[in-house]
Amino acid sequence: MNDQESPLHIQSNSVSSASDEVIRRVAQLKVEINRANTLYYIENAPEIDDAEWDARMQELLALEATYPELQTPDSPTQRIGSAPASGFKEVIHRLPMLSLGNVFDEAGLRDWYQHALDFLEIDHAPMVCELKIDGLAIAITYKNGVLDRAATRGDGIRGEDVTANVRTIRSVPLKLNGDVPSELELRGEVFLPNSKFASLNLEREQAGLPAYVNPRNSASGSLRQLDSTETAKRPLDMYFYSLGYVENTVEPTSHREALSAIKEWGGRVNEWTRKAETVKEVMTAIANASVIRDTLDYGIDGVVIKINSLILQKRLGFVGRDPRWAVAFKFPAEQAETTLRAIHINVGRTGALTPWAKLEPVMVGGVTVGRATLHNKDEITRKDLREGDRIIVQRAGDVIPQIVGISSKNKRSSNSTPYQFPNACPSCQAITIQTEDEAVTRCVNGACMAQFERLLEHYASRGAMDIEGLGERVSQDLPRLGFVTNIADLYRLRDRRNDLIKIDKMGETRVDNLLQAIESSRSQSLPRLLFALGISGIGSESAEWIAHRFGSLTAVTKATREELLAIDGIGPTVASTLVEYCALEQNQKLITDLIELGINPLDQTPKPADDHPANGMLFVITGRLEMMSRVEAQDQIKERGGKVTSSVTKKTDYLVTGAEPGSKLDKAQRIGIHIIDEDQFSALINKDIVPAKPKT
Ligand code: IVH
Repeated sequence: MNDQESPLHIQSNSVSSASDEVIRRVAQLKVEINRANTLYYIENAPEIDDAEWDARMQELLALEATYPELQTPDSPTQRIGSAPASGFKEVIHRLPMLSLGNVFDEAGLRDWYQHALDFLEIDHAPMVCELKIDGLAIAITYKNGVLDRAATRGDGIRGEDVTANVRTIRSVPLKLNGDVPSELELRGEVFLPNSKFASLNLEREQAGLPAYVNPRNSASGSLRQLDSTETAKRPLDMYFYSLGYVENTVEPTSHREALSAIKEWGGRVNEWTRKAETVKEVMTAIANASVIRDTLDYGIDGVVIKINSLILQKRLGFVGRDPRWAVAFKFPAEQAETTLRAIHINVGRTGALTPWAKLEPVMVGGVTVGRATLHNKDEITRKDLREGDRIIVQRAGDVIPQIVGISSKNKRSSNSTPYQFPNACPSCQAITIQTEDEAVTRCVNGACMAQFERLLEHYASRGAMDIEGLGERVSQDLPRLGFVTNIADLYRLRDRRNDLIKIDKMGETRVDNLLQAIESSRSQSLPRLLFALGISGIGSESAEWIAHRFGSLTAVTKATREELLAIDGIGPTVASTLVEYCALEQNQKLITDLIELGINPLDQTPKPADDHPANGMLFVITGRLEMMSRVEAQDQIKERGGKVTSSVTKKTDYLVTGAEPGSKLDKAQRIGIHIIDEDQFSALINKDIVPAKPKT
C-alpha cells in the first residue's frame, strides 16, 4: 500500500513494517478518538464514556509504540506531551500579533468608532462584539489542515514555540476538517477554566509551590512548561477569535464569515457574539455580557468590539501596537473592603522610593489580593492612609490593585497618627530627595544596593536581555554575596562556577543553567541591550529608535543632545538623561567593559525608508482623494520617511492633488512645486514608478 492510498499521513519515504490490518486499525482508532474528543470538548455531547475512550487510547498508544512510523503529528496520542524541552524556540510571526486599545465608557467607545469612521471617510460600519477572554493569545499554524506549530504572542513580533504544549489542549484540533487553505493560521485565547483554577492552586500549595494569582497567570504558567507532560495535566481550554496568515485562498470578507469558517474547520469559537450597527447597540451588548459574566466558567475582563468588514479592517490598519479596527471595552474595576496591615517601601532601579500596602488578603473579582500599590508619598498623605485602617481596594483587569481610600466604616483608635514617610533610603540609609516638579522621592546614592539589585533584575527580564534564572532572588543574592558589583561582572561569573554552586538553593543545575543563559544573552540585539541598561525614560520602543539611528553602543555613547532630539519620539528629558548617563565615568567604564567582554551588538535593522523616493520629502495634499482617505495618505508618507505639512512653501517637494483642489494648487504652480495626481502618488508610494526628481 503506498502513501496515497493510505488513510494515514505516513511520513513520505517511510516504509512501514505494519500489516494492512494494523494500519487500518490505527487509522480507525485515530478517527474514533478524534471524534470522541470533538464531541466531548467542542460540542459538549459525548457519545462514548471515559472507560471506552481510555481503552481506545491505550490500544493506540501500544500500536504506535510497536510501529513508531504510524505515529503522525495529528494522532490524538500526541496530546499527551513529550519529554522536557530545554527552552522554547523563537517564532517570528508572519503577521504581527497586535494588542488592543482600551476604552472604559460609552464616550470612549464613541470616540474610537468616530475616529475609525473619519479615517475611512464613511458614516457607518457594522461591528461585532465578542467576550474579551482573560487568557493568553496563541497563534496556531495548520499546514494542509494538520497542526504544525503553535506560538505565544511574545512581544507581538516574536513569540515562543509552544507547539508541544498546545497539542495537549483537548479543544484544539490537531487536524482540521474539510477544505482548508494549504497554510492557515488561527488565533485565539488559551485559558484555564475558573472551576479548575482553585483546585490547581490547592495542589500547588500542597506541593509547596506558589499559588497562581489569577486564571490568566495560571494559563500562561501552564503553557510555558518546558515539560509538556506537565501541561497535559492542566485542563487548559481555547477559543479561536480570528484568522492570522492565510495562504493562497479567497479569504472571507467579514469577521463573522471568518468565525464561521473556523467553526466549519472544527475550531472552537465562543458562542457569545453580537452584531451591532450603532454604539448604542454595542452598549446593550456590553450590558448583557456583564450580566452573564458571573455565569461563565472563564474570566472575561471586557468586550472586544471589531469592525466586521475585513476589507475595512485592512484599510484601518494600526497605530503602534493597537489596531484602529478593534478596541477593548474594559469592565469597571471591582472593589472590596479590607485592612491595611502595613506600609512598606520598595526602592526601584532608578532610586524611586515606592510605597506599597500589605493587606489582609481579600477576594476582589475572583482574585485574592494581598498587596496594593501606593504610588508615592503624596498619595498616602492625600488619602491619609494609616496602618491598621479599614480601606477599599480595587482592581481593574491586569492593573496592579490600588487603594481607593479609607472605608466609611473605618474606626481608628484615638492614638492613631499619620504615616511618616521615611527620610532615608530603607536600603542604604542615604538621605532621600524629592524635587519640586516630581512626586517621587528618590535615593540618589549611586552605590545603593537595592537599586543595583533592581537593575540586575530588569537587565535580565524577558523584554530586556532575557536571562532565565536571574530573577528577584538571585538578583539579590549575587550582589549581596559579592559576586557582582556591576552588570559587566555577570559575564565574568563563568570563572566562578565552583563558588556559585555553594550559594544556598543554587546547586549545579541552576548554576549551569544560569551561566548558560548569561552566555546566550551576549547575542541579544542592540535595542534590547540599550533598554536593559535601565536608563531612566528609555523604554523598549525608544531604545529601538535610538539603536536604529546610531547602530552601535559606541555611537550611542557619543550621541549629542541635538542628534537625539532629531529622532522622532525622543523628547528633551530622555535626550538629556541619556547624554548625562553617558557622561558619567562609571557608566563609561561599564560600557567599555561590556564591549571588551564581547557584548557589543550592532543594529543592522535596515532603515525602511532610506532608499524610498518618499524618504525625506515634504508633501502637501489638496483636494479629495479617491482611493484612500487623507489620513491614510499621510500615514503612508510617514511610514516611508516623508513628512506632510498643510501649506505649500518653497520647501515643499510634492503637492498631491485630488478632486477639487484648493488654492494650494495655484500657489504650487506659481512657485514651481512638483504637482502629482493621486495615481502618480500611488505609484510613488508603492515605488512602482519613481517620478523624476522634482527639484535640482
Ligand atoms: S482580537 C488586534 N478578540 O486580548 C487583535 N482578542 O488586549 C487582538 N483577547 O492579545 C485580538 N479575547 O489575547 C481579540 N475576542 C477576542 C479576545 C481577544 C481576548 C485578548 C488577546 C489580545 C488581548 C488584547
